[in-house]
Formats: sequence, C-alpha cells, structure tokens
Amino acid sequence: MCTAGKVIKCKAAVLFEVKQPLHIVEIEVAPPKAHEVRVKILASGICRSDDHVLNGTLKVKFPIIPGHEALGVVESIGEGVTYVKPGDKVIPLFLPQCGKCRACKNPQRNLCEKSDTFKGTGLMYDGTSRFSYKGKPVHHFANTSTFTEYTVVHEDAVAKVDPAAPPEKACLIGCGFSTGYGAATKTAKVTPGSSCAVFGLGGVGLPVVMGCKAAGASRIIGINRSKDKFPIAKELGATECVSPLDFKKPINEVLLEMTDGEGVDYSFEAIGRTDTMIAALASCNMNYGTSVMVGLPPSEAEMTLSPTLIFTGRTWKGSLFGDMRGKEDVPKLVSELMAKKFNLDPIITHVLPFDKINEGFELLRNGKCIRTVLKM
Ligand code: APR
Ligand code: ZN
Ligand code: ZN
Repeated sequence: MCTAGKVIKCKAAVLFEVKQPLHIVEIEVAPPKAHEVRVKILASGICRSDDHVLNGTLKVKFPIIPGHEALGVVESIGEGVTYVKPGDKVIPLFLPQCGKCRACKNPQRNLCEKSDTFKGTGLMYDGTSRFSYKGKPVHHFANTSTFTEYTVVHEDAVAKVDPAAPPEKACLIGCGFSTGYGAATKTAKVTPGSSCAVFGLGGVGLPVVMGCKAAGASRIIGINRSKDKFPIAKELGATECVSPLDFKKPINEVLLEMTDGEGVDYSFEAIGRTDTMIAALASCNMNYGTSVMVGLPPSEAEMTLSPTLIFTGRTWKGSLFGDMRGKEDVPKLVSELMAKKFNLDPIITHVLPFDKINEGFELLRNGKCIRTVLKM
C-alpha cells in the first residue's frame, strides 16, 4: 500500500521528561512538506549524546524523539526534492549541509547554520513538527530523530549512500565512527610516523584510534579508566594502553614520561569531561602539539586552566562530527566501508530489536557495550 502523502502511524521511542526511560508509543508522522523527506529507519545506533538528552546534560524541549545515528530508506519526498527519490538509502545528518550558508561555503567547515543540534528548537525549518502523539506535537532532535520507525528530515539533512550498505553497520557513519575517525584524519590531520594519545576508548575514542592508525601514526597510546577496553583498542591500532587509576601522578605527567618529556604530537579527548580535556592538552608537545576535543562537553560546563599551556605554541581544536561534511563525506565513508578500508564489526558489540531500546541505554551506562545498534 502506498503511504505517500498520508499520515503514517508507527512506533517511536518518546522521551516525555528528563531522567525518564523512553516510552515506545504509537505516534503519527505527517507527510513531508516542500524540501523534506520521510525516511523509514532501518537501524539506529545508541550514542552517548542521546544519553546526554535522557540525563539532561544536553538541553532539549520535551516531549522529544532522540536518536541521530541511523540508516534508512526514503519512503516519500515533499515538493521540490530532487536530491533523493523513494527507495534511496540515506543516512540522516545531525549536521545538515544546506550548501548556502557561510560554513557550508567554506570547504573546511561543517557547522551548517541550519543545524538544530545546539539551538535545540526541536522543530523543522518552518517552526513546526511532523510528529504527534495523542494529537499533541512531539519535538524533533538534532535535525534527525531516528528512534522511530519513520522520521521526517529536511533534504539538507540526508546523505544518499550505496543501496547495498548494511544498515546495522553503516548507521555508525551517521555519528560515532565518523566523529572519531574524522577527528584524527580531518581535524588533527595526523601525519605518518607521529605519536598520538587518545583519552577515552569508547564508541568515539576507538574510531579515533582507527583514524590515527589509518593516517600512519607510529605510536598510539590509549588512555581509559577501566582496562576492559584495552584488548580491543590494541586490536584496532593502539600500541600501548594506560589507566590513570594505576598512577598517583596526573596522567599528563605519565604521558610526558612515556614520551621522554616531549609530549605526543596529537592528543584527543573522547570522554566529554573538562579535566580530561585539560589533561589531553597538557599531554601534547608544548610547542607543536595539537589537542582535539572530540567528546561532547556538558552544556553548562566551564573550565579554568593555565594560559601558558597554549602560549607556548600548542594548538587546541574542537571537532564536530570529525569535521565531516555530511553530503560529501558520508557517502564516501560508506563506500570505503563497503570496500573494506575499515571494519566496524569490532565496535558493534550488541544488536537489539527496537523494543529493547531502554536495555541498550543500560548497556551504555554500565559500560557493557561499545556500540549497541537497534534494528527497527
Ligand atoms: N579518564 C579516562 N577514561 C575515562 C574517564 C577518565 N576520567 N572517564 C571515563 N573514561 C572512559 C570510560 O571508561 C569509557 O571507556 O571513557 C570512555 C568513554 O566511552 P563511552 O562511555 O563509550 O562514550 P562514547 O560513546 O565514546 O562518547 C564519548 O563523545 O560524542 C561524545 O557524547 C559523547 O561525550 C561523549 C564522548
Ligand atoms: Zn549550511
Ligand atoms: Zn552521536
């Protein structure tokens, strides 16, 4: 039965209030308006940033449908859409690419002004929502909202990908993998033979390790509190791993000692804590080191640090989505995955049916998984 132009009733995971479990309920999804696309989600990963929505670290409007790391198939298109057609495989983009704003026109940047991720309006460009529950609007999340069987996104916020892409794997290119891998390959531009330190060996930090290795780093030091992630970090390219819990002195001093007082060429923070962001900065070479913030800092966090850390010549950078430009880079990464240039299997530890979404969040909070992917 053709659903184009009609309201679709389907299951979605709605968050009604902060610090509550998600509720799987039947919602109504309106047809896409002009320049919008309705997408049937096939698989969606559970990312730490979604948990930041659930626990209130990332401020949003309620009720809301979180989820931003997915792969789906276009069900129908609104007037004027030419980029995709029904049946195309797509990855929704939490950083859209409108192609017209200053960020989009700069080939090095990716924070499109149409992105809602940091504005948090939870609405489509026209200021309304396409989701409703019991007749009341439900907010969108980060231009995407993927914890639902059907979503509506602007055509700016989808990347068309290889139709043969396996949904449960390729969905990670929508956030976690690209964020980490790009932080190393695009933001830091890690050079062959260099030394790197990666703070946090989770779903984001491990792809940083993969990116450092792909870029040809000769030394990759993984830093993580618990040691359970060390074997997989080593499998993916870490040459050594250390836990800050094994030392009395600050971890940046440990890293300086490990590098004969030089510090590493590149350091990455993939945890999202201010203390480890400063420790990562202090771990890179004082004159030519580059440190990249990859983990999402809490919305209201502030930090105090010695200006000397920067004054001597270190470079401190932030990296959103690994500096990937969605429409250009996401299809390329999917092709590279298909060509086996990298392997996502080691970081996908759990695949669950959509109904078990709250169990997936428990696995994330207990540190029992690297990535959990939901199959819709
Ligand atoms: N020092 C060292 N390691 C730590 C510390 C610490 N103080 N605190 C936590 N860790 C480790 C955890 O043990 C875990 O292995 O950091 C890792 C973080 O990984 P995940 O919990 O899997 O989080 P991840 O999904 O990788 O996201 C990390 O990136 O995009 C953001 O929102 C995301 O801020 C989050 C960050
Ligand atoms: Zn733009
Ligand atoms: Zn994410």
